Amino acid sequence: MPVRHPAPTPPFNIIRMSHIELGVTNLDASRKFYTEILGLIETEQVGNSIYLRGLEERNHHSFVLTKVERPHVIRLGFKVASEADLDSMATYFGTKGMATGWVTQHGQGRSLQMRDPFGMPLEFCYEFAQAERMLQQYGAYRGCHPQRIDHFNCFTPNVQASHDFWALELGFRTTEYTVSEDADPQLWAIWMHRKGNIHDMAFTNGAGPRLHHVALWVPTAMHIIHLCDLMSTTGYLDNMERGPGRHGISNAFFLYVRDPDGHRIEIYTSDYLTVDPDLEPIEWQLRDPQRQTLWGAPAPKSWFEEGSLLAGANVQPPVLQAQPIIAS
Ligand SMILES: [Fe+2]
Repeated sequence: MPVRHPAPTPPFNIIRMSHIELGVTNLDASRKFYTEILGLIETEQVGNSIYLRGLEERNHHSFVLTKVERPHVIRLGFKVASEADLDSMATYFGTKGMATGWVTQHGQGRSLQMRDPFGMPLEFCYEFAQAERMLQQYGAYRGCHPQRIDHFNCFTPNVQASHDFWALELGFRTTEYTVSEDADPQLWAIWMHRKGNIHDMAFTNGAGPRLHHVALWVPTAMHIIHLCDLMSTTGYLDNMERGPGRHGISNAFFLYVRDPDGHRIEIYTSDYLTVDPDLEPIEWQLRDPQRQTLWGAPAPKSWFEEGSLLAGANVQPPVLQAQPIIAS
């Protein structure tokens, strides 16, 4: 059950997770949910894709919603520190026999795509087209005032193997992790970062790979409370899945909502700084009742079972059968 700490430094520099493209079945329903209810800013629509960003984000997009027949996740995006880092990545993974490919995406510079060992569709880029700064355009604030994209959380059939690739090959650093309560404890979930907060990517044991959720960072817990009031009185009561509450892991205040296609979005705030290289990862026991929620309330069954399919990735059953605490 080794957690690699500190993670090695690869010959390229991933700054943070930065964008996601979600396949949705009804652009009008999704636009209403993401802009009028959550409060993201629409940069533009091009063809069957809507490009959205948070209030403080100057990149052209952090969310792309694209019309498809069946909902799924099209790409998980990350930003690197320079154009040269993209070339270094292509060379590094090429020598390891992993396929990479250059693609052109609207609103981005040249972008490098590859898959992790479980087939997750990853995309790396440096340059984004720039958009108007909305941070102090308070008249445009809506919903929960989402400032920026914060992290991905994915199901993986093998948390240890995912940790090994993301730590050893991509240089992601572990902040917190959960182990099974066996004589030989196994990794059950892990939170890993590049940008200096709790995570850019988390992995949870389960049928995967699938996206569990993508998170939006909001300024305060009161913005999350307001979103509860807003969704519960505008026809979105059934879209509120879990929370509000405070996580034991990460200390974050949270709410989980489902978009019109079932994609899970976390509204997230109040985690902590993790830039110190010697920051020791925190270990949690799987059945600690304060792990999921500091106040003790367990998550619903759907939270452990439902997730979004990833384009081109075959879902495999988990290798671990350890059970978390589930609300009855
Ligand atoms: Fe999360």
